[in-house]
Amino acid sequence: MNELLEAARDVQSAAHVPYSEYPVGAALETADGEVFVGCNLENANYSNSLHAEEVAVAEAVKNGHRDFARLAVSSGRRDGVTPCGMCRQTLSEFCDGDLVVLCDEGEDEEPSEYTLGGLLPNTITEEMLE
Ligand code: THU
Ligand code: ZN
Repeated sequence: MNELLEAARDVQSAAHVPYSEYPVGAALETADGEVFVGCNLENANYSNSLHAEEVAVAEAVKNGHRDFARLAVSSGRRDGVTPCGMCRQTLSEFCDGDLVVLCDEGEDEEPSEYTLGGLLPNTITEEMLE
């Protein structure tokens, strides 16, 4: 089993999902091999919910990391969920288009593999605002 995907599975136990009952875990690996994890944290007003990928990015960046190699994402259903549009944009603020994104397809399947640039081409970047 892929260790990064395992970390994305494990952190789902900390998800706060009383509304959707759909736990998501994300594990973001830095270029030097450290791993930061996040899970979704829902809110009674629904719209304030934090997504797993956002929490993982925040955890890594606040610990001083800006250079990332891979992201793994897993839902409790092992349904191959990919980062949503909002999360793709959030990731693109800190990760290059060649970031590898692994999505959990379940026990007997290889994870689907994407790149962030493939999932979100033509993203708006800091340079465009200069
Ligand atoms: N969710 C994530 O955590 N990441 C995504 O990119 C897709 C959706 C969460 C949000 C909500 O808590 C639940 O999955 C159902 O949409
Ligand atoms: Zn999202």
